[in-house]
Amino acid sequence: MPPSLKPAITFAEEKDLDPAKLVRLYQQAPWAKGRILEDAREMLRHTDVAVTAWDSDVLIGFGRVLTDYVYRATIWDVIVDKAYQSQGVGADIVQRILNHPRLKNVELFWLCTRMPGFYEKLGFSSKEQTGMVWRRSKQTRLE
Ligand SMILES: CC(C)(COP(=O)(O)OP(=O)(O)OC[C@H]1O[C@@H](n2cnc3c(N)ncnc32)[C@H](O)[C@@H]1OP(=O)(O)O)[C@@H](O)C(=O)NCCC(=O)NCCS
Repeated sequence: MPPSLKPAITFAEEKDLDPAKLVRLYQQAPWAKGRILEDAREMLRHTDVAVTAWDSDVLIGFGRVLTDYVYRATIWDVIVDKAYQSQGVGADIVQRILNHPRLKNVELFWLCTRMPGFYEKLGFSSKEQTGMVWRRSKQTRLE
């Protein structure tokens, strides 16, 4: 392809992807850097909805949802390959999640992140940030 032509980015709404491609993408985010293949495979198996972005067969964007399909959905792991950022891919992934046919009855989408510049443009509000977290220590997890 001539270098002046932008590659065509395609999107898919399925979670049946090679977890190795996702682990490669995870390396770019500080909060996901250490994630390993076996855990990513297991995570995908139990994830309810995933949206992926592709340049040919290269995974360049990802986002996923855990939900009861009625009251609540949480959005996790929205990530775009650095080489493809600032082209609208991240916003497209989130829009595809919010408009996903299987999620059309969900009352409230929840996010655990601090990136108002990105998410507020997509209609998210930080007014309801009243969450708490409990983190399992690495040691307990291994036992
Ligand atoms: C955050 C992230 C997913 C955004 O993806 P992207 O494809 O670069 O974003 P888009 O091009 O769709 O940007 C949409 C809008 O959000 C803004 N935006 C994007 N990233 C931003 C950031 N980090 N801070 C503030 N605004 C941001 C853009 O300027 C753009 O605004 P515009 O519509 O007025 O031009 C991407 O930067 C990323 O993968 N970051 C590392 C992983 C991460 O931290 N993910 C968030 C945790 S869930």
